Amino acid sequence: MKDFYEQFYAVVATSPVHAEFCERVFGRNLSQHGFSDMAQLEALLHVTGLGPGMQALDLGCGSGMVAEYLSDCTGAHITGLDYIDLAIQQAQARTAAKADHLQFFTADLNALDLPPRTYDVILSIDTLYFSADLTGTIGQLVQALRPGGQMAIFYAHGREPWVPLDEFQADTLAPDRTPLGAALCANGLAFQALDFTAEEYRLARLRQEVLAELRPRFEAEGLMFIYDNRSGDAQGIRQAIEDGLHRRYLYHVRLSD
Ligand SMILES: C[S@@+](CC[C@H](N)C(=O)[O-])C[C@H]1O[C@@H](n2cnc3c(N)ncnc32)[C@H](O)[C@@H]1O
Repeated sequence: MKDFYEQFYAVVATSPVHAEFCERVFGRNLSQHGFSDMAQLEALLHVTGLGPGMQALDLGCGSGMVAEYLSDCTGAHITGLDYIDLAIQQAQARTAAKADHLQFFTADLNALDLPPRTYDVILSIDTLYFSADLTGTIGQLVQALRPGGQMAIFYAHGREPWVPLDEFQADTLAPDRTPLGAALCANGLAFQALDFTAEEYRLARLRQEVLAELRPRFEAEGLMFIYDNRSGDAQGIRQAIEDGLHRRYLYHVRLSD
């Protein structure tokens, strides 16, 4: 997957067709590779109350356009991390004039070395799938939070297309039974989970429609690897939701003071 992300961030910053895809699907081009549109980002801001003077960490920030947007909207200081060097370099170069509010560094979420008791909010938009040890990663994130700190995590779980229907365990769809929910519980964390499955379905269908229309332009720009990745995701999610075997949640954790 790292090869995919290296190629992805090498091209999307300057791709007209990818910019149009993001604008039409997510409502704004933030070079997203996650599945949150502007309404979902608004929900993230609403649950966390992110605002001036707060310190946030965006885990798996890619080229940092989502972090920049959230910081511009709220006045919060946001630090982004991602394991793709080029994406972090793009983020640093683009936001050099906003360095008092935005910082970025390269790091692997499977080898985290975060400063303790530093952040008021940790954000993760479709990145914790890449943790090799979710319980351990959540434990490390908790250590990096200040007392009263929060985590806001967009996370989906469902049947992947290659898993036979009768082998997928439907009881893992409940918010406390997904791999992330189980990892939060294993860390003794209480959470609220807001269900965004209906929005996920609408966006998967929209992605398919927009991709079908933009296919010749993805081809002309030599970006069929992105087209194939995006359409595979959209088809898999749509099918799983139609089978009742997929959920998307916004998990919100607040530590005690
Ligand atoms: C699905 S994309 C989401 C990106 C962004 N949060 C968004 O919503 O558009 C996953 C991101 O996680 C990053 N990533 C994947 N594995 C990682 C790892 N082990 N350590 C740090 N970042 C990782 C990828 O480079 C990519 O930017």
